Amino acid sequence: MKRTRLGVLISGSGSNLQALMDACATPDYPAGIQLVISNKFDAYGLERASKAGIESAVVSHKAFPDRESFERALTEKLEAANVELVVLAGFMRILTPYFVERWRDRLVNIHPSLLPSFRGVDTHAQALNAGVKLHGCSVHYVRPGLDDGPIIGQAAVPVLAGDDPKSLAARVLIAEHKLYPACIRAICDGRVKLVNEICQIANGDGDFTPLINPVS
Ligand code: GRF
Repeated sequence: MKRTRLGVLISGSGSNLQALMDACATPDYPAGIQLVISNKFDAYGLERASKAGIESAVVSHKAFPDRESFERALTEKLEAANVELVVLAGFMRILTPYFVERWRDRLVNIHPSLLPSFRGVDTHAQALNAGVKLHGCSVHYVRPGLDDGPIIGQAAVPVLAGDDPKSLAARVLIAEHKLYPACIRAICDGRVKLVNEICQIANGDGDFTPLINPVS
């Protein structure tokens, strides 16, 4: 079985990285993580990678004069590891059109809202302020706009009475950990087709449904 070579970019805890590492550790998963890059030295995800014996590197954005030179350094490392699909997992840097075009259709992100609602930061507070009853997360191909790009899959969770941003974030995160590995499996199985900037998902014999709804 061909295993797609993933490069995962992180900035923090790396719980989505962990979910992907766990998925990649199962024998029939069609991808493997070649390299983890953090832009922060103290990202806990780096420890997770090292425990799993996965190569990691820190490329600090602070060491570069501008965003593009930082991204060129990222690209160099990803290319050296022959990465085929770049996975953003809590990577807290805005990417320039240079990087987005360089990795076009080979760059995915997970965002903690049901896009196109609630782009940007503090998505759980945004959802609570809007009074929505369903919230969730989305995996999408990355385009130059903020949290923009063709949606690969979404998972919905209920908003419960008494929720605050923290309790809602925790519920969404559980859904993220199911959704991201499922979407990357679908991509690496060749079941995601981009047609006019819409993702068509072919049903295989895998476990992917584009909507996981709702988890409790
Ligand atoms: C997740 O909620 C993800 O959707 C967002 O940042 C958070 C990262 O969490 N982009 P982790 O580092 O994967 O634990």
